[in-house]
Amino acid sequence: MDIIRVIRDLEVLVSYERNRGRSIGFIPTMGALHEGHLSLVRQCKREGKICFVSIFVNPTQFTDKKDLRTYPRTLKNDCRLLEPAGCDYVFAPSIKEMYPEPDTRTFNLGRVAEVMEGASRPGHFNGVVQIVSKLFGIVQPDYAYFGEKDYQQIAVIREMVKQLKMRVELIACPVVREDDGLAMSTRNARLTPEQRQFAPAIARTLYDSLTLAPSKSVKEVEDWVIQTLNNTPYLRVDYFSIVTGPALRKLKVWSYGKSRVGCIAVYCGDVRLIDNIKYEF
Ligand code: PAJ
Repeated sequence: MDIIRVIRDLEVLVSYERNRGRSIGFIPTMGALHEGHLSLVRQCKREGKICFVSIFVNPTQFTDKKDLRTYPRTLKNDCRLLEPAGCDYVFAPSIKEMYPEPDTRTFNLGRVAEVMEGASRPGHFNGVVQIVSKLFGIVQPDYAYFGEKDYQQIAVIREMVKQLKMRVELIACPVVREDDGLAMSTRNARLTPEQRQFAPAIARTLYDSLTLAPSKSVKEVEDWVIQTLNNTPYLRVDYFSIVTGPALRKLKVWSYGKSRVGCIAVYCGDVRLIDNIKYEF
């Protein structure tokens, strides 16, 4: 497994692999890797692609300076995890390499970038699109793998690919969870032992809500989830919204023939956790 620091070197390797007739799989990350990230690498390798993983804590998508400052940077350990998972190349650029000058681009991606996370963290998705569009431009992957843990992020990237007419196929991979159901996240490490004990209520409540639908209305299910979690110690719901995928329109009735996803953001103490669940019936 090679570790590459500069764009030019990466481009040389990508064309080398492409000229050998290999199809290029790409997984953008911010490092501090866990089993959720590694599942994307394994899926990429299962599908027989050459696997490029980027590790870059992208400053432009952070809406909270302290969050950016304290985001873990663990490149050595990340590489130790990536190699046995089958990763072929790690791209770990500096900030200067990715942003030699400030990125002033603003994207208009419409509703998918404005609701839920977009409303709670204004500017976040613009930063995500700035970095992912740059990375896609450099790697020019045939396939890019994203986790459904960040359900809305996939919808936003999908819209970006459509608007910019990029030739990449997006592969959405399932959420990887701890044994008690908590969706794996780098931010889980910030929970105190007491908070960690109550955090699995998020996934449990989402799963329990499956049994209410469709006999209860969409609004009743949303209210029940919010109330149940707000009555749990340490938890405070930011939003819970049942939407259609991939357009992220708010669902009013349980209409059939549409995919329906409940997306949630919850503060556990001051740690913001997100998760989602599919309502399939
Ligand atoms: P990061 O949070 O590091 O996540 C990188 C990828 O791993 C994303 O596609 C995310 O959805 C996926 N992932 C994280 N936890 C997961 C879990 N428990 N199960 C399945 N997949 C999981 O998302 C970002 O970085 C950034 O916004 C990025 C796209 C790299 C742009 O900077």
